[in-house]
Amino acid sequence: MQKCRACDSSINPFMSFGKQPIANGFLAKDQFPKEYFFEMQVASCPKCGLFQLIEQPDKEMMFHGNYAFFSGTSSAMQKHFAGYAEMVKTEYLKEPDPFVVEIGSNDGILLVNFAQAGIRHMGVEPSANVADVARKRGVQTLNKFFNRETAVEIVAGQGKADAFMAANVMCHIPFFHSVIEGIDALLKDRGVVIFEEPYLGDVLAKTSYDQIYDEHVFLFSLTSIAYVFGVHGFELVDVHPQETHGGSMRYVLARKGMRPVSAKVGQFLKAEKDAGLDKPETYAKFKAACEKSKRELTGLLGDLKAKGKRVVGYAATSKSTTVLNYCGIGPDLLEYISDTTPIKQGKFSPGMHIPVLSNEVFAARYPDYALLLGWNHSREIMAKEQAFKRGGGKWVSFVPTVGILE
Ligand code: SAH
Ligand code: TMP
Ligand code: ZN
Repeated sequence: MQKCRACDSSINPFMSFGKQPIANGFLAKDQFPKEYFFEMQVASCPKCGLFQLIEQPDKEMMFHGNYAFFSGTSSAMQKHFAGYAEMVKTEYLKEPDPFVVEIGSNDGILLVNFAQAGIRHMGVEPSANVADVARKRGVQTLNKFFNRETAVEIVAGQGKADAFMAANVMCHIPFFHSVIEGIDALLKDRGVVIFEEPYLGDVLAKTSYDQIYDEHVFLFSLTSIAYVFGVHGFELVDVHPQETHGGSMRYVLARKGMRPVSAKVGQFLKAEKDAGLDKPETYAKFKAACEKSKRELTGLLGDLKAKGKRVVGYAATSKSTTVLNYCGIGPDLLEYISDTTPIKQGKFSPGMHIPVLSNEVFAARYPDYALLLGWNHSREIMAKEQAFKRGGGKWVSFVPTVGILE
């Protein structure tokens, strides 16, 4: 029997997505023979509600000096993070000379807003290449993994923080309790914890199983966050649903009794019960929905190929690694994947080895169909790819349902 990574209860893996490679491990041909794979099984904990991977590759295999994800590649995300910074500044930084810490600060997309406002800040970012980009933009960055020790080091240098922030990284860290102990060591008494991550409720409702990949060792809900932080004396004081990454939740927590609790917390907790997030049947249904999605997507791509259509993938997102490997979609079905990130171009997609080429290649000779692997950026992509559509090109989508977009 497996044990929950947070509360040690027995958990049952309810589904496997098969052998999966490192989601951001875009690689050159000579690296194919040594590519690393792991069995991607998932479980939900009946006690604390935490949705989790059974196995996760070592962190150094995922986060390093060649990390392929640069937050700043999406202009919509830049705007989003400016709004996030504004909310923190106006709601939570009311004391003089505040100090904020962000983990997983990547290229500085959020912290640059604090740096430019002259607010004391520190980013914690283990992937050296993205951390360097942040430093060049004037964002103070510690090139380390965050844990209890890193927190103690920051306090020794800068004192305690008013706000601890994160986005799309808390769900990456398997040593969850060490992170919360670090937060506890780092924060002032009335300090706040603010982070946003893909929301389990959205993944289940939209069958967006591609949010499950090596980095995402957890998918959070209010139920699991309240439980795990509760162990360390913190409580949820507010929540704000977000549209980013196909449906995320921004959580605000504080030490118990230190801040008023918004009525939204109780409302969302009840909605999670109503949606059956605590019931095994919900996960059995999710599994069936993933299998149906796989059948329909491979069926549709197979039909297009049989008709002699040219189909390419659009945006070599981390998520696409799960879809392509789970469905067995390779270069026979997708000619290439168009992506704007220079470090991914000229390489091959993890596991299925589809070539990744620049957006200029896409624009030079439009295909008949493009599989929208970056569906979470669809508004931004649709706005900039109008010529593809005008020329008769069509989008194939698979979240929330498989089909050709009209
Ligand atoms: N916050 C950014 C980046 C998310 S990607 C955004 O939302 O766009 C996750 C980032 O977290 C990566 O840059 C990765 O290197 C970093 N990371 C992974 N484990 C970490 C840890 N233990 N502490 C701090 N950062 C970590
Ligand atoms: P994400 O979904 O994990 O944020 O990954 C974003 C990826 O999508 C990144 O590799 C860049 C790529 N991308 C494009 O190629 N074109 C675009 O217009 C956008 C918004 C993203
Ligand atoms: Zn648990």
